[in-house]
Amino acid sequence: VSQFDLPAEPDTPALVVDLDRLDRNIGAMSRRMAERGVLLRPHAKTHKSLDIARRQLAAGATGLTVATIGEAEVFADGGIEDLFIAFPVWAGGPKAARLRRLAERTRLRVAADSVAGVRLLAACLAGTGAGLLIELDSGNARSGVTSAPQAAEIADTAASAGLDVIGVFTHGGHSYNGRAAVRPAADDEVEALASVARELRAAGHAIPVLSAGSTPTAPLPARGGVTEERPGTYVFNDRTQAALGACGPDDVALMAASTVVSRSGRRFVLDAGAKVLSKDLPPWLDGYGMLPAYPDAVVARLYDHHAVVAAGDGPLPELGEVVAVVPNHVCPVVDLADEILLVRQGRLLGRWAVHARGRSR
Ligand SMILES: Cc1ncc(COP(=O)(O)O)c(C=O)c1O
Repeated sequence: VSQFDLPAEPDTPALVVDLDRLDRNIGAMSRRMAERGVLLRPHAKTHKSLDIARRQLAAGATGLTVATIGEAEVFADGGIEDLFIAFPVWAGGPKAARLRRLAERTRLRVAADSVAGVRLLAACLAGTGAGLLIELDSGNARSGVTSAPQAAEIADTAASAGLDVIGVFTHGGHSYNGRAAVRPAADDEVEALASVARELRAAGHAIPVLSAGSTPTAPLPARGGVTEERPGTYVFNDRTQAALGACGPDDVALMAASTVVSRSGRRFVLDAGAKVLSKDLPPWLDGYGMLPAYPDAVVARLYDHHAVVAAGDGPLPELGEVVAVVPNHVCPVVDLADEILLVRQGRLLGRWAVHARGRSR
């Protein structure tokens, strides 16, 4: 991964976004989807930022995907009206009234993968115009139904309770199992969506929406009847995307600026610990992050506030030096920060708030 220029003397630790790279990533994904005639509904859990959401919409995104009611509320408050909560929300307790209120002020789409879950959704959303997408498990073994009859039972329950069934969706998260897993996971997404949609249509449901996507799978060609893609991580990218080949070496738009605060032998310590970098670690990656300026180094251990870096055979940074760290997985990293510094060619342009930070329910 290549480094972009950090601002002079940042107060570390700090997340820094390079605006040119960000806009290039947003533009490239929008163009790819437009060329394929597919709608782009980016997952906003990656950036949690109204500023970035508005840039995605200005570049042609049709609306946003979010994971929680809390995220949806923040984006709705910011004036964004087309929102899909792509998570099997359990609409009991206070969530029911919050969902209904959201449906009254936005074009809301919700998700279910069980009959019990969809009954709760229908109880608060029937008659509001909110649309339902049924979640399919296309191989990630997370949430989602694994057969057309299960999907049909959910669709029938929703329709008879007055909730509009508009489509099916899946997230091929098994694309994260390594480079060789990306293409098969992409094909699994297409196959699951197409086969279940066919059965639901035969049973009388319209199913106009086939929604797929992850950052590795969304840009691939030959995506069958998919009508909408939901990549999220592509706005910033990270060490995992670079390792998967899902982005190029110059496409990582967010890095953590941190200061070398201690040195001993072949290791040194940065002030960006687990409370900055998070502890996400794909089993096939070594360490918690990499330093573009020190390609032999790897973040070997993380404590709350210390990152212990093994320098490997390469050079060592000076004490007090500010270095950039590329995190393994950018989404939880952003959720740990109040704000992001914006740079272009190393010049500090301003700061963006992480508006939906911490909105996990
Ligand atoms: C349901 C759903 N859709 C879309 C995405 C976006 O995928 P990615 O993070 O690969 O961009 C995610 C990410 O976890 C997801 O869970």
